[in-house]
Amino acid sequence: MSRPVLQKSCKRFAVIVGGALVLFSQTVHSAAILEGERMNPVQGKEGMVVTSHFLATESALEVLKSGGNAIDAAVTAAFSLAVTQPRSGNIGGGGFMLISSEKKDEVVAIDYREKAPSKATVDMFLNEKGDADSNKSRYSHIAAGVPGTVAGLALALEQYGTISLKEAMAPAIKLAEEGFIVTPRFSSGVKDKEDRLKKWKSSAQIFYKADGGYYEPGDLFVQKDLAATLKRIADLGASEFYTGKTAELLVAEMAKHGGLISMDDMKNYSPVMRKPVHGNYRGHDIYSMSPPSSGGAHVIQILNILEGYPIAQYGHNSSVTIHLMAEAMKRAYADRSMYLGDEDFVKVPLKGITSKEYATSIRAQIDPYKAMPSKMVMPGKPLPYESNETTHFSIVDKFGNAVSNTYTINFSYGSGIVVEGAGFLLNNEMDDFSAKPGVPNAYGLIGGDANKVEPNKRMLSSMSPTIVKKDGKNFLVTGSPGGSRIITTTLQVIMNVIDHGLNIQSAVAAPRIHHQWLPDEIRIEEGLSQDTIDGLKQKGHDVQQKSSMGAIQSIMISDGVMYGGADPRRSTALAAGM
Ligand code: GLY
Repeated sequence: MSRPVLQKSCKRFAVIVGGALVLFSQTVHSAAILEGERMNPVQGKEGMVVTSHFLATESALEVLKSGGNAIDAAVTAAFSLAVTQPRSGNIGGGGFMLISSEKKDEVVAIDYREKAPSKATVDMFLNEKGDADSNKSRYSHIAAGVPGTVAGLALALEQYGTISLKEAMAPAIKLAEEGFIVTPRFSSGVKDKEDRLKKWKSSAQIFYKADGGYYEPGDLFVQKDLAATLKRIADLGASEFYTGKTAELLVAEMAKHGGLISMDDMKNYSPVMRKPVHGNYRGHDIYSMSPPSSGGAHVIQILNILEGYPIAQYGHNSSVTIHLMAEAMKRAYADRSMYLGDEDFVKVPLKGITSKEYATSIRAQIDPYKAMPSKMVMPGKPLPYESNETTHFSIVDKFGNAVSNTYTINFSYGSGIVVEGAGFLLNNEMDDFSAKPGVPNAYGLIGGDANKVEPNKRMLSSMSPTIVKKDGKNFLVTGSPGGSRIITTTLQVIMNVIDHGLNIQSAVAAPRIHHQWLPDEIRIEEGLSQDTIDGLKQKGHDVQQKSSMGAIQSIMISDGVMYGGADPRRSTALAAGM
């Protein structure tokens, strides 16, 4: 590794780090990994919380300290993030939660993804010429799906938690009502998205001062409307959000601006308990999110393909390893475009996609020395049907429970539209449907019929909350934001730990790569050696260095010690253990 690359990497991390002290020490080490040293993860014996905001981490850790379990802490963290990190933490969006109980030897998934309103139609995002109109699917009231977060979190608590919804929401209510100190990341986020947020009076009133000025680092940020909404939900239960005053405010917002969500859509929303997808990789059990997310299916598919190669021997981020990863990724994303959608509406060949036999057949097509251009890669034939913002957190407790949760309002600040009087942002998740076959969504992902818009259907996701078990014990809890890059980010942390033996902090911080079939390029973060880049180009790859990918908040458990790795790509992230 050449000196200049190391120095550049150091500088970037130093600039983005502004939050907790622990992150600054990780910053120093994050360059050291490239020289073979190891970063130190945070350690605990009784519990560990890793989220993208230190206030959410602290709220959740308090719950563990007072005897709550990982699910109690997870619901507390999610509501706290809805207040402290409005760009992605939410009550106006949706997500997925994986819960592993060692005692019951069970891993379950809660699907609280948003649903299309009942008045949604297949061509709702096309203009008069029949072309996809991204303004409609991203920045208008019809971009919003029926939110699932409140129902999903309440279900998790009811089924697996030990504290009341009121107790889990108390820290969030306090943070909204009394305010919190603005961080550099919070301040720059709302400055960056001024165009989107100031377009709507209801949003401008929340995110900017009365004179239109910015909240600067060090200012107090109070959210009275959101506090009142959270209090109503805490007092009256999740049904308040779906049938009470909050639902009425949301539906009034829709009616005023031509949105589609009705009181019936709100009343009829329910989260679903699903079976996670399951695979194994070099002796580890991998559990990840099933449809309507594509995440789990493709994490397992890519791991299956790569299992046939001696990746550890080829080395971490060597050109040979990255070439094989990119070739496997291409095939997975091509399949995604064809087969993945909401299983309540379409049949997904999940067993075929995640089978070892299918992986073997794909491996046979991969040339170890030469890239296959994406235009020559078509979706494969798995066995037939057998029947730029999100946030992730990972939590484990001393009772053998692990929670891996990813939730989102899609873009940073979702549609940019705050529900007037309710103080929360609406998602723009409808853009995750395929507006028109072959037309890419905001992440460049192509979709087809399986992911077309249909009333009450869940839009396809890439979110991949994942729990890896070893010998029946929770071993790795991970997941990430990042749109189409979520799948490959999650994959790389699993490989960094299992193939390359990195500790969790190193695994999380290491430079990442991504290929999603189309566009036909390997996207890389800074920090790869010129030698590696040259090696990839020689094999025929187009290599493009772009901004960082994902923010993967992860935990590894080894010999009874819990190791937390917060992603230094988020300056406010914090791992804390007890
Ligand atoms: N909205 C991004 C995803 O669900 O994949």
